[in-house]
Amino acid sequence: MSERFDFYKCNLCGTIIQVFHRGDGELVCCGKPMEYLQPHKQEEEKQEKHVPVKINNKIQVGSELHPMTEEHHIEFIEIISEDKKELSVKFLDNNDIPQMNLNSFEPKHAIEYCNLHGLWENKDL
Ligand SMILES: [Fe+2]
Repeated sequence: MSERFDFYKCNLCGTIIQVFHRGDGELVCCGKPMEYLQPHKQEEEKQEKHVPVKINNKIQVGSELHPMTEEHHIEFIEIISEDKKELSVKFLDNNDIPQMNLNSFEPKHAIEYCNLHGLWENKDL
């Protein structure tokens, strides 16, 4: 059973999807069930800089910036409003700074995806 805003990944082809409308069916890709991606939280942070933080008018990945190299980088940052009616995503290349400007709404929840360390979230921006 999927819930709105859940992320799932296919461990065979690498496809990542996000649910916008919940349903009871099993999500399948390449003939196999997709893996639910459980976001990591602040408590799991060690050396890596992954938890999204709000600094002035930006969301930044890590209180110290996460690395952005070809081998290890942030693929996207997503923000969601407190009423869950607004969502915005910024996709990043490995030479971008892992930050997102806040323009249209004030987010309560931010999520980012690191190609090596998976999903990380901050639900209390
Ligand atoms: Fe990472």
